[in-house]
Amino acid sequence: MKFYFAPMEGITGYPFRNAFQQCFPGIDRFYTPFLSANDTFSFTTREIHDTDPALNHVPELIPQIITNNSEMFVWAIEEMSKLGYTEVNLNAGCPSGTVVAKGKGSGMLRYPDRLDSFLEETFELLEQRHINCSVSVKTRIGIHDVSEAEELIPIYNRYPLKDLIVHSRVQKEFYRGEVHYETFRNFIDHIRHHLVYNGDIHTRDDYDKIIQMFPEIDTVMIGRGLLVNPALVREIQGGEPVTIHEIKSFHDTLVDNYIPEMGSEKNVLFKVKEYWGWLSKSFSGSDRYMKEIRKSKNLAEYRAAVRTLMANCKLERDDYRVS
Ligand SMILES: Cc1cc2nc3c(=O)[nH]c(=O)nc-3n(C[C@H](O)[C@H](O)[C@H](O)COP(=O)(O)O)c2cc1C
Repeated sequence: MKFYFAPMEGITGYPFRNAFQQCFPGIDRFYTPFLSANDTFSFTTREIHDTDPALNHVPELIPQIITNNSEMFVWAIEEMSKLGYTEVNLNAGCPSGTVVAKGKGSGMLRYPDRLDSFLEETFELLEQRHINCSVSVKTRIGIHDVSEAEELIPIYNRYPLKDLIVHSRVQKEFYRGEVHYETFRNFIDHIRHHLVYNGDIHTRDDYDKIIQMFPEIDTVMIGRGLLVNPALVREIQGGEPVTIHEIKSFHDTLVDNYIPEMGSEKNVLFKVKEYWGWLSKSFSGSDRYMKEIRKSKNLAEYRAAVRTLMANCKLERDDYRVS
């Protein structure tokens, strides 16, 4: 089985990915959170850093692009190709209201004929311009209703996609409710591309359930489960559960990695506090200590609050489920 780390905007930028790889090796492939290809035909400094090969120390990295315009998409693919990337991923899954309103992310699924034209134009332009870079797609299964997947499958089948990563929920569901397993089965039965399963693998039991249901699958992408339990893949592979020592060392590496990237102490604090929203779920009784972490105004106060939490809270071992 191959394990991909899901892109998570605001969290899994290169400082996080590098720290993760150093402390919890075992992920086969990482994805950048989405980079915007828009009419400025330029990337932000953050996006440039996030895809800079010199700053990235993971085995495999795939840049992810969000756009609804094939000309802009192909521009972004060419830029990534110049950096040495051989595959670019299209975001057709982001459920955020502002993104969807612009017809991007899972907003691309609202008008399947436009998605079809977008892909058609993209592959046409790639050929015309002799750009040798594969395209993969990360998609949801519709906007309102699972039946919309019926129309999406033949569209995805028409193009030479490298991978199709499927999060089997519709846009309206965000991350709520059960994954639609029967729709994912439909993708397995009808998609001609290499299919990657994504969604709600938070524990080894979740993983076992997925591979029992879908024995054909050879690659899974995991997101939130790895934020809460960074040793999840090791556990799935029969290894030891995470220790407090490992979490401490990962956290220290993360802070060290953010310092040169974020510019100011305030920005570093913002980033690491955001991650604690996830990491705190792996400690029982962390609520009262989290207040101190949130209140901290500088790195010294922050580090002291983290030390107190780690000294007083036990790691959850039985249930890492993300709510
Ligand atoms: C905070 C957050 C940010 C995310 N950002 C992205 C993103 O930039 N691109 C993307 O394709 N998916 C994004 N996702 C979706 C995840 O990649 C993944 O599909 C989702 O979390 C479901 O997988 P999981 O159940 O293993 O977490 C994001 C999810 C979360 C919770």
